[in-house]
Amino acid sequence: MARIFNFSAGPATLPLEVLQQIQEEMLDWNATGASVMEVSHRGKPFMEMAAEAEQDARDLLGVPDNYKVLFLQGGAQIQFASVPLNLMGDAPVADYVCTGSWSKKAIGEAKRFCDVNVVLDTESSHYTDIPPQSEWSTRGDAAFLHYCSNETIGGVEFNWLPETGDVPLVCDMSSNFMSRPVDVSRYGLIYAGAQKNIGPAGITMVIVRDDLLGKTSNQAPSLFNYEKQAGADSMMNTVPTFCWYVCGLVFKWLIQNGGLEAMEQVNIRKAAKLYDFIDRSGGFYTNPVEMACRSRMNVPFIFQDNNLDAKFLAQSHDAGLHSLKGHRSVGGMRASIYNAMPEAGVDALIAFMQDFQDRNG
Ligand SMILES: Cc1ncc(COP(=O)(O)O)c(C=O)c1O
Repeated sequence: MARIFNFSAGPATLPLEVLQQIQEEMLDWNATGASVMEVSHRGKPFMEMAAEAEQDARDLLGVPDNYKVLFLQGGAQIQFASVPLNLMGDAPVADYVCTGSWSKKAIGEAKRFCDVNVVLDTESSHYTDIPPQSEWSTRGDAAFLHYCSNETIGGVEFNWLPETGDVPLVCDMSSNFMSRPVDVSRYGLIYAGAQKNIGPAGITMVIVRDDLLGKTSNQAPSLFNYEKQAGADSMMNTVPTFCWYVCGLVFKWLIQNGGLEAMEQVNIRKAAKLYDFIDRSGGFYTNPVEMACRSRMNVPFIFQDNNLDAKFLAQSHDAGLHSLKGHRSVGGMRASIYNAMPEAGVDALIAFMQDFQDRNG
């Protein structure tokens, strides 16, 4: 078996142990004589598994009892619409922070459903910094403040929590979800597409505080309605059974590996190694993001000489290091090093980068 190191931004690498368990259980899941994809989502084995996955997620994140945990379809981008449709109520405006391509996209979608007050936009600095909150123009009457805790494309991550007083804090946590502990009680709502840190594409988790339910616009499709979904245990329609099952296995894997505190330590170490190597390369490789907000999950790096891009990609691919091409809006390379990327993968990447520099520097 030749497994590559997969640095894809998402769908991303999954823990090997999880993939092996899926393989073992594929033909006969949970003594049902069928795969998990072939059983009813309303049958006892699936319902029990789904409830256990939710409980494991609650335990990992320390989700307080007054929050609902939902497993929904449609990807994180559906939440760009669902959030304003569910949370606006009678408020005149929603606050949005724009620190990169994903928050910009969330703002574009929200504008279709509500008035948006952009409290900060770092486009002019090419999304490479996060100015302090004292420089934001927040509104006390906003229905919520939305931000993206990790910009997957630019590699910009919040290492601090915005303070919003009574205005509920809403976070797109898609690309750093479960990569570090979070204080859920500080949030009104957290959402995250699964395909980076917790499972396959096709399922999105939403964690929402009870008191924010019940304000959904009549225009919202029923399946978007958080309160209805919570009342139906996220099972208003046929759920993405396989995705939910894999998320459940990833949660067990996280628990077995020490939970989010342990994950965070490994993630700090992996990211520090890679940034340190980039910074010591004498400008051969550069990362444009300000130190204080460099992402632990997505590490873009560019060459002074962009003629090297194609060569680097071809040779790294041959060395078993795949999906390193950066997003077209940033250029260069991007290494996504989520929870499931072993430290050995980062070591192999750094060794390759050193060798490449020796040959081309
Ligand atoms: C931070 C962030 N938000 C939202 C999305 C959109 O997710 P989806 O493709 O599941 O709609 C992505 C996808 O890569 C992302 O990285």
